[in-house]
Amino acid sequence: PAPAYHKITPTITSFALRLYKQLAAETSGNIFFSPVSIATSLALLSLGAQADTPTQILEGLGFNLTETPEADIHRGFQSLIHTLDLPSPKLELKVGNSLFLGKQLKPQQHFLDIVRELYGAFAFSANFTDSATTRRQINEYVRKQTYGQVADCLQEFTQDTLMILLNYIFFKG
Ligand SMILES: *[C@@H]1O[C@H](CO)[C@@H](O)[C@H](O)[C@H]1NC(C)=O
Ligand SMILES: *[C@@H]1O[C@H](CO)[C@@H](O)[C@H](O)[C@H]1NC(C)=O
Repeated sequence: PAPAYHKITPTITSFALRLYKQLAAETSGNIFFSPVSIATSLALLSLGAQADTPTQILEGLGFNLTETPEADIHRGFQSLIHTLDLPSPKLELKVGNSLFLGKQLKPQQHFLDIVRELYGAFAFSANFTDSATTRRQINEYVRKQTYGQVADCLQEFTQDTLMILLNYIFFKG
């Protein structure tokens, strides 16, 4: 059978083109972004949302939930992340997702389990009122995960931040 990510890659490709079009209209210089990272973070976030929000997030990414049910979308991301992680002799690619959650948020255990299983994502508690410490905590985490190559990725955030969705990429080829 075809790998599970085949069900989501056409939608991610159109999402990339739509987003590129929008970013290009707002920017005059070169544009460098990772549509897979953005789509992955939002799909992961949808697992923690309720009522109409998961559908709105996934439809916003361009998925047609009649054609691709929610469960297939998440399995697709799981298989995509797994495939990107496979060792290759020509290049080194490491992609990861994490959540930093304000201390007042109490995520359900089921959510934490499922984002770890499907997205390989880890959740950390953060105190956004103590912005200097939290910025250091997040930047240090990204620096370690990217073998020291990405330093000081997060410059600032506001004190009313509740959550930071993080996606990092290390690429060497
Ligand atoms: C979603 O897919 C179904 C089945 O292919 C189709 O009938 C429907 O029009 C699609 N919805 C949108 C918004 O494209
Ligand atoms: C968060 O940081 C603020 C500012 O340093 C501190 O006053 C507060 O006690 C901290 N909250 C927790 C739950 O650690």
